[in-house]
Amino acid sequence: MDKKDYEREYEHYQFMRENAQHDKNRLHYHLMPPSGWLNDPNGLCQLGETCHIYFQYTPFYAGWGTKLWGHYTTKDWIHFQEQEPFLFPDTPWDRDGVYSGSAFVKDEEIHFFYTGNVKMWDKPYNYITDGREQNTIHVISKDGYAAGEKKLVLTNADYPADMSKHVRDPKIYERDGRYYMALGGRDKKNQGNILLFVSEDLNCWKYYSRLMTNDPFGYMWECPDLFDLNGQTFLMFCPQGVKHKGYDYQNIHQCGYMPISFDPENNICDLGCFQELDRGFDIYAPQTFQDAKGRRILIGWLAVPDADYKYDATVSSDWIHALTMPRVLSSEKGILMQSPLEEMQQLRVSCQAYELNELPKWETEDCCFELQIESPFFLENLMLQLREDVYLLYKDHELILSMGESGCGRTKRTIKSSKLSKLVIFSDTSSLEIFINDGTEVMSSRVFSKTLEQSVNILSVSGTGHAIFYKLSGYEVEWL
Ligand code: FRU
Repeated sequence: MDKKDYEREYEHYQFMRENAQHDKNRLHYHLMPPSGWLNDPNGLCQLGETCHIYFQYTPFYAGWGTKLWGHYTTKDWIHFQEQEPFLFPDTPWDRDGVYSGSAFVKDEEIHFFYTGNVKMWDKPYNYITDGREQNTIHVISKDGYAAGEKKLVLTNADYPADMSKHVRDPKIYERDGRYYMALGGRDKKNQGNILLFVSEDLNCWKYYSRLMTNDPFGYMWECPDLFDLNGQTFLMFCPQGVKHKGYDYQNIHQCGYMPISFDPENNICDLGCFQELDRGFDIYAPQTFQDAKGRRILIGWLAVPDADYKYDATVSSDWIHALTMPRVLSSEKGILMQSPLEEMQQLRVSCQAYELNELPKWETEDCCFELQIESPFFLENLMLQLREDVYLLYKDHELILSMGESGCGRTKRTIKSSKLSKLVIFSDTSSLEIFINDGTEVMSSRVFSKTLEQSVNILSVSGTGHAIFYKLSGYEVEWL
């Protein structure tokens, strides 16, 4: 679909956008596709005062299809503007989808790198080793709205010979004036890894090395991110095919990070322990960028591909999926912590505070709230009702998110937490994002309740402390 096809179809499918706007499950403070399908956030960056948020987008079909890059901008994280899609599959190198990629700002220009997906329909196509191309494409933009000429920088022939055809999702990292490109991949033995390429000028790329674990850890690593925070380098990625183990790896595909020692001068790149980024049902393909204030901001896809629970409650309204709320990362001893972006506080419209032992209860009309529970000591037990059949329980040093029918197949996620002193819960019409102990752990999930008129109850608690309940308004989005 090139730009002309898009413009023609846009008129024809206008009804989908109207339909989507009327859905009760439409979120109030999360980015969603105006209509159709959204998956990974792409190309996150700030140029001047404007933050750009691109995303995998199928505007006229609320299902998996040929991807474009959709586009939102914001200057304050409360007011957003829908922009024309930024990239279209319109060359032989990306004709079956402009897949995920990232942005790198240099000298007032944005360098985008993304994967051009090509399926050889006329050849044997096994999805893995044959019949597909995953090209790495470079595009420069002076403003984030108009894309320059697409330049093919790497093809499958440039990736090591033992790689399968799955090599994608480039992300750029700068160290000492050199640029490293991390690409997620799967080798022919079905082991996931990250390929690193190096460049002096962002144009010419040479193979540099491969990051992988000694023991296989999944068959494919998608959506890598490489960044420094607080003097530590982190590699974030999404391994597929890691087996469920106790309370770890409870989702079908994972999303996490490793602190790494990256010392290119001495040829050292040691991987630390993999940590899950989020232990809810719905998180994947997170991407980070540094904003002008120096904050490392993370946004993810509020879903997991191939999960056996459902997202389709919104499909009859012609849209599906959303991005997580933006979070700021901090780190301590190789562990990442996530906190809601400060700007979200502007969404607060009213505030009620209670002592926990009053067992407070709040009425909501639209399930849009922020609930903070804090104890000066530690809580021993807590039972909180967030929806008609959704509970958050803390007992025996475990925090459990338990969902009934409104989980649409989501049942239970558990985190071992020896101490609980703080919970910050962000609830939107059809999502929950729970920040535990200052974001040391997070649980993100979709939820599709029958009604949004609910009461939020603290059903039982042992321990002292207080709760603050804020009703939240929503983003203001200027549509095209
Ligand atoms: C992750 C992913 C990426 C790919 C994109 C396609 O969700 O599969 O690896 O580039 O989505 O939409």
